[in-house]
Amino acid sequence: MNLTLKIWRQKGPQEKGKLVDYKVNDISEHMSFLEMMDVLNEQLINTEEEPVAFDHDCREGICGMCSMYINGEAHGPDKGITTCQLHMRSFKDGDTIYIEPFRAAAFPVIKDLVVDRTSFDRIQQSGGFISVNTSGNTQDANALPISKHAADEAMDAATCIGCGACVATCKNSSAMLFVGAKVSQYALLPQGKVEAADRVMNMVHQMDIEGFGNCTNTGACEIECPKGISLENIARMNREYLKASLKG
Ligand code: SF4
Ligand code: FES
Repeated sequence: MNLTLKIWRQKGPQEKGKLVDYKVNDISEHMSFLEMMDVLNEQLINTEEEPVAFDHDCREGICGMCSMYINGEAHGPDKGITTCQLHMRSFKDGDTIYIEPFRAAAFPVIKDLVVDRTSFDRIQQSGGFISVNTSGNTQDANALPISKHAADEAMDAATCIGCGACVATCKNSSAMLFVGAKVSQYALLPQGKVEAADRVMNMVHQMDIEGFGNCTNTGACEIECPKGISLENIARMNREYLKASLKG
């Protein structure tokens, strides 16, 4: 198929960006979206133009790097997948595709489609971990009984890959779904209970410092999340926050 691409080009964080038109021809419907971008970049390199900068790593829906806004949707038109799992069969010959970076004050554009998501790293560093005694008397993990229900819910929360689609989709650029998932994956397990109060207070505080917006219960984040992270995680984080606040 032959396509017209309208891609956000921006030389650097302080430069003004704009949409630039490109044509790509003979694109197979079996190609992934990122392979189509590779074809475009080879074309640009062959004509001695600057290739389009975009983030990617695993290309199998695990790392959360491939942040692109495609035709006005984070990770493109298909549900429950990342950009790297999107295939060109979702488009048709003659289509015009708009490709932009994730947009949020806390995700500044570095170049073209690459945004700085280290704000997520700093939130994680503020509390997204457990401290484990490695003195030699470490308790066997299996000695702690965990209900199947809690284990399943913790596992579901832990599938968040930190891609940032929830933020990019939210009209408030809120990171509540991401932080809710990270708080929940520990709050549901006995290993996470020891530091639970500090964790939720520190992570929410860091989220505010980074400039993410508030949650107004629109639910767009849940719809666009490639991993199906549920809004229930935001409710759990709010309960954990209230508990920690009352504890002082
Ligand atoms: S909650 Fe979903 S959309 Fe948000 S960072 Fe995690 S995986 Fe991505
Ligand atoms: S490149 Fe890793 S999730 Fe897309």
